Amino acid sequence: MWNKTIKYVTLITVIFLCAAKVNAKQNACLTCHSTIPQEKAECVTECWLRSLHKQNGVTCVSCHGGDADIDVGNVKQLSQQEFASKKALAMSRAKGFIGVPKGKEMFDVCSKCHSDSVNRYENSIMGVAYLDNKGGPSCTDCHSAHYVIIPDVPKSCEKCHKDTTGFDQIDPMNVNDATVTELSRLRIKLAEEKVKGKELPLFPEELGSFQIGFVAFGAIIVLFIIAYIIYILIEKRR
Ligand code: HEC
Ligand code: HEC
Ligand code: HEC
Ligand code: HEC
Ligand code: HEC
Repeated sequence: MWNKTIKYVTLITVIFLCAAKVNAKQNACLTCHSTIPQEKAECVTECWLRSLHKQNGVTCVSCHGGDADIDVGNVKQLSQQEFASKKALAMSRAKGFIGVPKGKEMFDVCSKCHSDSVNRYENSIMGVAYLDNKGGPSCTDCHSAHYVIIPDVPKSCEKCHKDTTGFDQIDPMNVNDATVTELSRLRIKLAEEKVKGKELPLFPEELGSFQIGFVAFGAIIVLFIIAYIIYILIEKRR
């Protein structure tokens, strides 16, 4: 009898502790931000939920700082004042909240886990153009902030570059002087191949039916003239 009671009490305690643990793990940023209408369109929380980052435990706080462990309760039922105070608690500078990382700050954020990628990019032509505010793409221009995709090359480059020939054969995260040289070599080679392709006697697939007819007609005329000359020569001998 006592044995059974102890078992039940233990079981209930374990369930209770698990539930408390799950509850403590609730992400306050996610809970509140999922209710902000204009962020639905920007796909902030929804994209993060589907991301490789989420799967690997990279949370809002990993990039923005702040405190995700406060209890927000039911956001829709909060008074304006409660909402503001919960928001201030979570997005607190004292708890390391940095807001939206801008300029060099973004490199510092990503660098916490991707220092190799940041090193590769920060000294590249585009990385410098980004840091100097000269229109170079940020990490998230190519990867997006919340879904973290590997961008499609060269499609994703087209919004800033007109000629993307050869872009699929370079490292977009480390474009340097050598890349530019390599790229112009590649482009000259491609252009030469194109011209050569046109000079080759591409008979008959590459010719239109009109051209084939024209060539055939020419050939018949030539044969006719040769036959006529032979005929004249034979006639003269007689
Ligand atoms: C991998 C880092 C990273 C994670 C994880 C992350 N963010 Fe962001 N977030 C950014 C960056 C970088 C920007 C700035 C985007 C830009 O300027 O291109 C941003 C922008 C934002 C913005 C501004 C609106 C916008 O779309 O630009 C909000 C709000 C935001 N994040 C909330 C969140 C919330 C909530 C979470 C968790 C569910 C989260 N972020 C997770 C990096 C991250
Ligand atoms: C109780 C609601 C609430 C909570 C909790 C909350 N936020 Fe926010 N957050 C907002 C609202 C509303 C805005 C947009 C209005 C504004 O900028 O003041 C915002 C704006 C932001 C922005 C973009 C603007 C800025 O100030 O930089 C980021 C980034 C952000 N939140 C991240 C977070 C992170 C990370 C957490 C968790 C640590 C969090 N938020 C928790 C309500 C909340
Ligand atoms: C707290 C650590 C952390 C931070 C901060 C972080 N990441 Fe990640 N990131 C990861 C992990 C873990 C993975 C998944 C495993 C992997 O592929 O390396 C990942 C994956 C990625 C991938 C996908 C790689 C692939 O193979 O598909 C990209 C792109 C990426 N992160 C970009 C960023 C950018 C941009 C930032 C800064 C805005 C950032 N990350 C910030 C940890 C982090
Ligand atoms: C011009 C677009 C572009 C920019 C800007 C860019 N990346 Fe990438 N990134 C790519 C492409 C394309 C790949 C996949 C091919 C490759 O690895 O070269 C990639 C790959 C990655 C990967 C996967 C692992 C790896 O190294 O191959 C990570 C992580 C990453 N980038 C993070 C970042 C971070 C952090 C920044 C900013 C410091 C950044 N990227 C800037 C286009 C970009
Ligand atoms: C947000 C705009 C933007 C995006 C997106 C972008 N670039 Fe760039 N790119 C620049 C700027 C700005 C420069 C620097 C121009 C300069 O300083 O001469 C540059 C320079 C380059 C250069 C060297 C000069 C040249 O034009 O040949 C290459 C190569 C290059 N980018 C490749 C890429 C590739 C590959 C992608 C896609 C994965 C890409 N870029 C996406 C803005 C962008």
